[in-house]
This record gives sequence, structure tokens and C-alpha cells, in this order.
Amino acid sequence: MNDANSDEAEKRVHELREEIAGHNYRYYVLADPRVPDAEYDRLMRELEALEEAYPELVDPDSPTQRVGARAAEGFATVEHEVPMLSLGNAFETEEVEAFDRRVRDTLDIDRVVYTGEPKLDGLAISLRYERGRLVRAATRGDGRTGEDVTANVRTIRAVPLKLRSPDAPDPLEVRGEIYMTRSGFTELNRGLEAEDQKTFVNPRNAAAGSLRQLDPKVTARRPLRFFAYSAIVYRQGSDAGLGDSQLESLDRLAALGFPVSSMATRRAGVEALLKFYREVQEERAELDFDIDGVVYKVDDFDQQRELGYVSRSPRWALAHKFPAEEEMTRLERIEVQVGRTGKLTPVARLDPVFVGGVTVTNATLHNLDEIRRKDVREGDWVIVRRAGDVIPEVVRPIVEKREKMLPEWELPERCPECGSHVEQVEGQADARCSGGLVCPAQRKRALEHFASRNAMDIDGLGTKIIDQLVENELVDDPADLYRLDAETLAGLERMGEKSAANLVHALEASRKVPLSRMLFALGIREVGEVSAAALARHFRDLDALMEADVETLESIRDVGPVVARHIREFFDEPRNRRVIERLLESGVEWYVEQVAEPEQQPLAGCTYVLTGSLEGLTRPQAKQRLEALGARVTGSVSKNTTAVIAGEEAGSKLEKARELGVEVLDEAALQKLFSAKEG
Ligand code: IVH
Repeated sequence: MNDANSDEAEKRVHELREEIAGHNYRYYVLADPRVPDAEYDRLMRELEALEEAYPELVDPDSPTQRVGARAAEGFATVEHEVPMLSLGNAFETEEVEAFDRRVRDTLDIDRVVYTGEPKLDGLAISLRYERGRLVRAATRGDGRTGEDVTANVRTIRAVPLKLRSPDAPDPLEVRGEIYMTRSGFTELNRGLEAEDQKTFVNPRNAAAGSLRQLDPKVTARRPLRFFAYSAIVYRQGSDAGLGDSQLESLDRLAALGFPVSSMATRRAGVEALLKFYREVQEERAELDFDIDGVVYKVDDFDQQRELGYVSRSPRWALAHKFPAEEEMTRLERIEVQVGRTGKLTPVARLDPVFVGGVTVTNATLHNLDEIRRKDVREGDWVIVRRAGDVIPEVVRPIVEKREKMLPEWELPERCPECGSHVEQVEGQADARCSGGLVCPAQRKRALEHFASRNAMDIDGLGTKIIDQLVENELVDDPADLYRLDAETLAGLERMGEKSAANLVHALEASRKVPLSRMLFALGIREVGEVSAAALARHFRDLDALMEADVETLESIRDVGPVVARHIREFFDEPRNRRVIERLLESGVEWYVEQVAEPEQQPLAGCTYVLTGSLEGLTRPQAKQRLEALGARVTGSVSKNTTAVIAGEEAGSKLEKARELGVEVLDEAALQKLFSAKEG
């Protein structure tokens, strides 16, 4: 090989390494990648090819050498020079207030400046850098000794192998959390399932399992990430942080190439901490990684030193945990609920358990396939999960706690509500009651749907009243509702004269209704609000729709072949036609709204994000009105966001908007927008 060529190659190899490190930094630290993945891969391949041609240029810190080591037999133990401590926990506001009081008393000041950070739900790791290079990665272990997982950690791209600045402290120990993204976790489990391998229960377990692989090649394929949260600088046997405060040290860590959470923020006083807690809680569901609370840290390092430690945790920090999202309880029995269209849903009746901030007594089991897949049985101990506002679900049984043989659960052969036989179509997961409107449960749910907010919007006609109306044979189908009088209604349980009169009023008010809502209210299978609106827009007439053939229906946007068939079948059923006739006879009057085609709507192409609390209307109402004008409403701010609508106590989304230069509207500006566009 001639020298000129190898000089050239060496130059290019260095350029490529720099460029790749720069892309890693943009991707993991700044969360703002500049090149598509394909370009990144191309650079990596070019570097690999050069290193193969010029083996003398291979360097252990080259990005191609992340998977360097062979499979190990086990992990060596590592003693932590500075122990890895744990954090004191709080669940209640009072505990946070007590923490702040103790800190203020010790420091003898009125107000303390803290940092608030998310508490990442992964595994603590210590990274040691010498002369700017990663030399060792160790797990927390018992806090004093951990395991040497360097070979595995080197495969995690978010962990820099080399520091970005030549004048970084030396040696430097960086601590943080290794975690797996939720999306990566879902994908990983999907792959494992396809290969008939055991799946992981949650991202945390998946991260732990991936980090403890003896073969770094396996770890390299796992979507692991890293966030740094502290640094230790060793100076003549003593240790110190990087800079003078926690937030400053996070900034310095980011400058050295470490990903730090963009949610970390400085807050003065306990009220501001509690506000941060609420903001993060609100943002939690939209994050692509699990967090189990927030961490408060006294920001100033001198103050931290003054406060010191108590047993195994610092006096200057506190973890404020979110209510647990998973708990264990006994599944007493499985019951079957019958839905509006006859669909049977098995529901787990549970020993009441406090999870995700509420007491849960029921959890959905979806269908028989799901019960079989999870192997849940009546009498099992189960893990129940309730995250955010989602419906509680049974995650899995704790098979080890199954005391005796429990029989598998079977679907009933007859509908528990009406005794009609149960249909299970081959290849479909859902079973159905074949009773149709003979089945009181289906009638009740159909009436509930008819009266619901986005359908006929009959205020005060809730489940309890509907159940009584059907059971007392006062109402059979929706048309009967309009024949009810105040006297009959007042005779029902929990119904005073006032509420009866109110309900008669509400029925009266619901008589005039946009065609789209009436169509939605009829409860035609698979016809949701969007397809109902499309049908109303297309036909602008009920009779024309009732006569339309399947081909015409299919030609409408938002109406597919299955929906078209359901619509046709619905109107071919004489009983349904009769209900419609009687509705019209009893004074229900539909009208056609002046709706523009989606692309001509006043806010078509605009995207809004709502944050904080609004006074004059709820967030769902604001969302509905914006969407009615053709806008999209999303949960996270990006540079494509048209504007962020910020109410009271708006949090990090507002900050993000300011960062990105996205327009911010307050409630008054939103109202102005509505009056200008709603016409
Ligand atoms: S600071 C002495 N900050 O929580 C304080 N820890 O019990 C050391 N954790 O396993 C920890 N997010 O890995 C700190 N922003 C954060 C954190 C965090 C998660 C974990 C940490 C440790 C546990 C503390």
C-alpha cells in the first residue's frame, strides 16, 4: 500500500469518526438529528470498509468498535470509589413539604432553589472516563460494589466512548440511567414473539435483561438509551461535581456529549416543585420512556455539602413518586358484558386495589383469545395496570402463586343477559350475542349510545335511568324516549320531579339535530363520527342515504367496503326503518350543517397543541371545536405546530414552544380565533 493512499485513508477515517460522533451528539444529546438514518449508515459502512482495508487504523474508540468484546463467562465485580446511593421517597405532598422544611431549617434560609428532574425508570450506571475515554461501566449493585458491564455499555450509542472536550476533568465519573424506549420495547417484544421466545414484562426489565447479556452482540441489538444525571470529579482523593450547581453540571455533561433530560429545570420553593410534579405527570403518557416520579435536588453544590447524607441517601434530594401503575390483586371471577352491537367482553372482577391513583375493581380482558394468551383464570393473583386515564387491564397472572389447579375459563354458550346463543365467527376474536334488539343489554347500550354527548346529547339520560326504563318496559327503542312524560319519569328511582322535568327538557332540546349526529346516534355498526359526517356531507338527505346501494356508499371517502355493507344491512332491516319512521313522527328533525370539504375548512392544515387549564371551556371542548374547523390537535410540540394554546399552569409544552419559536395563544386569543373562523 503506498503511503499517499494510507495518509489519505487516515485523514478520511478521522473525518468519518468526527462526523459520526457529531451525528450521535445531534441525535442523542440535542435530539435534533440532521441526517436521515440511511446517511448515518452510509458513513458507518464507509468507515468499516476503510478500517478493514487499513487495519492499523482501527482504534478501540472508533464507532465501529462498539461491539468489540467476545461473549463473557460472567461479570467481574467493581468497587465504587464513591458509593452509589439511593434516594429518599415521598408519595404525598406533605412529605415533600416536610423535606423542604428540613432543608430550609438546616441551611437557615427562607427559600431554596432546587432542580426538578424526571425519575427515569431504568437502571443506574456508573461510567468512568480516563483521559477522555470510557474505561469502565459498572452497575449499581448494592451501592458499594457493582458489576463490570463495560463491553455491553460500549454498544449503547447514546453513551459517548470519547468525551467531546479535551479539557474535561480527568478522571471523570458520570452517573445516569440506562433505559429502553417504549417504542423500542414494543418492537423488541414483537420480534421475540415472532421467534417464539419469551417476551419482557416492561421496558425496565427489558433494559436490565439486555444489559446483563453475556454476549455484547445481543446487547448491541437491543434499543437501549442513556440519560446522565450526575458527575463526580476526583480531586486529590476528594470528590466534587462538575461546576457549582446541579443544573450547571447537567449543562456541562451535555457539552461533553452526554444526553441529559430536557425536562430538567430550576425551581425556587416547594410550591414550584409541586407544580413541576404536576406538569411532568401530565406529560408522562406522551413520553417514549417510563418514568416513575420526579427527583428534587438542592441545586447549589455548597448547600448540598452542608446538608450531607443520612444513612444511604442524600439529605439534599428526594424522589417524589407517582402512584404505582401496576399492582397485584386477586381476580375473583370473570363476567361477560354485552355491548351495543352484541359483542361480548369478558371483564375481570377484582379484589379492590389502589393503582394509578384510583381504586380499581374491574379490568377488561378484551376477549377469549386474550384470556388464553395471558392464561388468566378465575381465582388467580394478577398484575393490574392502570396508566394515566386508560382503562385498567390485567397484565398477567402470577402463575407461581396459583395454589391449586384452576380450570381454564370458558366462554358461555348463551348470552348472560337474554339467553340467546353466542356466535363466534371462525377467525374472529370477538364473540357476539345473537339476540339483537331482543337482548335487553344490547338495547340498553344502544340507548346509552343514542343519548351520548356526541350523538343526540340528551343531558341527564345516564346508564342508571336507561336500565330502569328498559327493565320496566317503558322504553324499547330510541323512538320511545320521545314519548316519555315528566310524570312517568318522576316515578323512577333516584328521580325527583325536578330532574324529571329537566330530562323532558333535554329530550325536547335534542329533537333538532344535525344529520351527521343523528346517523351516528343510530348506532350502525362501524359508523363512527367521522363516517357519519362523511355520509351527511355526501347525501345531505336521510331518504337518499337509506336507498343508496353498496357501490355508491363505498365511493365515499371515509366509508370502506365493510362499513358500506353494515350501512346497507342496517337500512334493509325493517325494524330499523320503523324506528327511524317513529323518531321522525315523534318530532325529531334533522338538518344539514353547512360543512365545508375538509380541505376548504378554515383551519385546514393547521396543527395546535393544548396545554394548561382553560377557564371558559374544557380541553376536550376546545379540541372538538378546533377539529370542527379542520385543524389537527396533537399532544406534542414540534416545529410543525401552528400554535400552542396555553391556559393556566401551562408547563413544559409552553417552554418547548418558546424554545422552537412556535406561536403561543392564550385563552382570549383562542376565543378570538373561534369567533373569526366559526362564522
Ligand atoms: S440521583 C444520590 N437522579 O433512582 C442520588 N437518580 O434511588 C443518586 N434515578 O437507582 C441518584 N432518575 O438510578 C437521580 N434524575 C435522577 C434519577 C435517578 C432515576 C434512579 C437512580 C437510582 C434511584 C435512586
